[in-house]
Amino acid sequence: MSTMVQNEKAKADIGVVGLAVMGQNLVLNMNDKGFKVAVYNRTTSKVDEFLEGPAKDTNIIGCHDLKKFVESLQIPRRVMLMVKAGPVVDAFIEQLVPYLDKGDIIIDGGNSLFNDSDRRTHELHKKGILFVGSGVSGGEEGARFGPSLMPGGNHAAWSAIKPIFQSIAAQVDGEACCDWVGNDGAGHYVKMVHNGIEYGDMQLICEAYQMMREGLGMSGDEIQQVFAEWNEGVLDSYLIEITRDILTVKEPDGSLLIDHILDTAGQKGTGKWTGMNALELGIPLTLIGEAVFARCLSALKDERVTASNVLPAFAGEFSGDKAEMVNAIRDALYASKIISYAQGYMLMREAAKTYGWELNYGGIALMWRGGCIIRSRFLGNIRDAFERNPQLENMLLDSFFIDAITEALPGWRKAVVCAINLGVPTPTFSSALAFYDGYRSERLPANLLQAQRDYFGAHTYERLDKPRGEYFHTNWTGRGGNVSASTYDA
Ligand code: 6PG
Repeated sequence: MSTMVQNEKAKADIGVVGLAVMGQNLVLNMNDKGFKVAVYNRTTSKVDEFLEGPAKDTNIIGCHDLKKFVESLQIPRRVMLMVKAGPVVDAFIEQLVPYLDKGDIIIDGGNSLFNDSDRRTHELHKKGILFVGSGVSGGEEGARFGPSLMPGGNHAAWSAIKPIFQSIAAQVDGEACCDWVGNDGAGHYVKMVHNGIEYGDMQLICEAYQMMREGLGMSGDEIQQVFAEWNEGVLDSYLIEITRDILTVKEPDGSLLIDHILDTAGQKGTGKWTGMNALELGIPLTLIGEAVFARCLSALKDERVTASNVLPAFAGEFSGDKAEMVNAIRDALYASKIISYAQGYMLMREAAKTYGWELNYGGIALMWRGGCIIRSRFLGNIRDAFERNPQLENMLLDSFFIDAITEALPGWRKAVVCAINLGVPTPTFSSALAFYDGYRSERLPANLLQAQRDYFGAHTYERLDKPRGEYFHTNWTGRGGNVSASTYDA
């Protein structure tokens, strides 16, 4: 073996920039899987702390200098950025590029906006550098023991990163929760939708919790039991599991810790991006939208306190069978969850068309099946649906989900009506039901809406008895002229 080949072998398989908790855990995960990793952090003392602490007695190479860090990597060089999304990513790319050669790879594993990953893929492509924007989900523990990874960008990079990515990712039934998502910003796009769905799932669980707590007056322990039971059935998922566990944590005085947590939700913006993109693409992503707005409403704590003293509820008290209502709430949660994922998939389908991606919908469900925050048994059902029919127009039209909704529907309606009567806000349960009733309606009142538009603005309408694309205008008042406005859809 020549010395050059030997030297190359001594070098690191991959370099990671950024040693915050996600970066550190990903590095340790790579090390466990037998990859040699070089690390760099802007505050270099963090490198030393890492090497003396969690990375002690490993093969991890610590670097204080970005040039030396790059030199310590095998060719093609694979550099993964685990830094704050936004300008910091661009700043590191700018610093790294002078040390890199054509064919080297930069991976961004932060929660970056997909448009930024689009731009970075193109800019770096011009310089011969292969860019990958990868969604990384699963929090600290996922990063350490198996995250869900959603890489996209320059496809030419995939074969060089695939062995590392697929071995550090979570595995479900022997399959890695990581596959190539698509070109340019597709990886970060799918991660964004994942996060939007995460917002939806969390809000759904919170509504179920509040209905039981405030509406049915159940104790924390009783609710904890319900979540434990639900986690054994169709709702089996990471978020239900942690909710079950959160409800066991007590304060020294025996009260539940969550009863002492301020009820205002934070957000870093990925749910909002998903909602904004849905508006942009014209997809009714109502459930995630409601989940984002529910966080916004929760943040208006002071205003809510004032309003709670002056605005009446005119709501009744629950007087039915509690166990029956708990089952109805479970049905509402399950059916609404189906709607949420169906909407998320509608959005991804439209995005694929708009941005020119070829998304593998079953593959995405598999990537989310393990490792990530929304991991659940349910994602296996979605994967099966797309396996049965890869061209499936909408998840709701798959036989499994038709049966599931049919079974849950009576309970879902009952729970929403009950919530309304009790004055418990359930924005996602009820908006999901409204979407469902709209989606399954052959006829909606948009005929009236078109008439109104034509009445006040001569915006024209199409007729049921005429071919699509033929537009009509009526002089509704006898005062307007017969000139119509031009027709276009935003
Ligand atoms: C994940 C999560 C993660 C996200 C946090 C915080 O997939 O591991 O989605 O990426 O950043 O959950 O999100 P919010 O602060 O917006 O709730």
